[in-house]
Amino acid sequence: MTMPMHGRAQALPPQSRESAETAHSGIREIANLALLTPGAIRLEVGQPDFPTPAHVGEAAKRAIDDNWTFYTETQGLLSLREALVAKLARVNGVAATPDRITCGIGGVGVLAAAFAALVEAGDEVLLPDPAWPNFRIMCAWTHARGKSYRCPQEAGFQPDLEHLESSITPHTKLIVVNSPNNPTGVVWSRSSLERIAELAQRRGIWLLSDECYDQILMDGRPLSPASFAPDAPIVSGFTFSKTYAMTGWRLGYAVAPAPVIDTMAKVLESMCSCPPTISQKAAEAALAGPQDCVAEMNAAYRRRRDLVAGILRAHGLLTALPEGAFYIMADITPSGMPSREFALSLLRERAVAVAPGSAFGAVAAGAVRVSLASSDDQLREGVSRLCAFVRKCAEARG
Ligand SMILES: Cc1ncc(COP(=O)(O)O)c(C=O)c1O
Repeated sequence: MTMPMHGRAQALPPQSRESAETAHSGIREIANLALLTPGAIRLEVGQPDFPTPAHVGEAAKRAIDDNWTFYTETQGLLSLREALVAKLARVNGVAATPDRITCGIGGVGVLAAAFAALVEAGDEVLLPDPAWPNFRIMCAWTHARGKSYRCPQEAGFQPDLEHLESSITPHTKLIVVNSPNNPTGVVWSRSSLERIAELAQRRGIWLLSDECYDQILMDGRPLSPASFAPDAPIVSGFTFSKTYAMTGWRLGYAVAPAPVIDTMAKVLESMCSCPPTISQKAAEAALAGPQDCVAEMNAAYRRRRDLVAGILRAHGLLTALPEGAFYIMADITPSGMPSREFALSLLRERAVAVAPGSAFGAVAAGAVRVSLASSDDQLREGVSRLCAFVRKCAEARG
């Protein structure tokens, strides 16, 4: 028998069709090109530009010295989950117990585990449009059908509740909400979140509330559906990534009814055994330590939001004023270009990278996402170039 030569092309057995056919994120495309563009102003990034607070790093170093380097409970250390019970009560007004909490590999890890725990092949999942692209990929590998409900720009990117309700069919298993929202930065109104929670409860549909930006707020307090609808079937997902600038530590957590947490723990057992132990000890320090780092980062995001909104407003390109997360959507419709083409041209011609709205769905196809996780100077320069580019394109159209 002749063995196939290493490296020679040969037909591979088929992969999971739905997973393999999912498109790569439209943000990655721009980010990869930006890396090849010397001196590019990077406004497409979705992570804080601040260092992880020093006391959190110190706690991680101590954890290594103290041998916190072994598996923990799948759901995470009991001591961490107890600290999260206190955080959920203090910040989110959500009553929890340690058995109703699981930690996971980042917010994405617990959201994916929730999908795996709740959704079966053929189920329908209602996703906001625009939405964080990862939800579409989760639909692919759970063999669910992702359907969009609109959050139109004319309505300040607030969810269209009529469209949401009319999209429900007997196959609808899960509704995803995300506030503060990526990509729009908009905080959904309390009345919308209340109505969606009431709808989920009345129609017997799970609600997955992505609250990964819960503490990135320029005004007001977090609004958690589970706080005002404690009996509704809700899984709420959170993360340390954004609040404490800890994206690389990969630690998130979810709160849900105990039977769902039990199912999620089985999923997580097969995905990661447990979240990284060193990160769990660091997270305990983040929760127990001073919280002024959170307020300081929020003050910077607010200042940058005002700076960028001012420039966009002056050019008539402001869509909606964000109140959370660290994003703002710029209207590029006067350019006459679809958002992907616009983002590619802006990078090529003006060396500014932004995320095309089309990466998040159809509703934002006439806008681009600007990340506020960049310095004031970079934002001022990058957004000014963006506005000038829109004007140039508009003039060229006549
Ligand atoms: C809307 C949304 N949800 C969840 C996440 C997950 O974040 P992480 O896995 O880093 O905790 C992100 C990250 O960008 C996000 O934007």
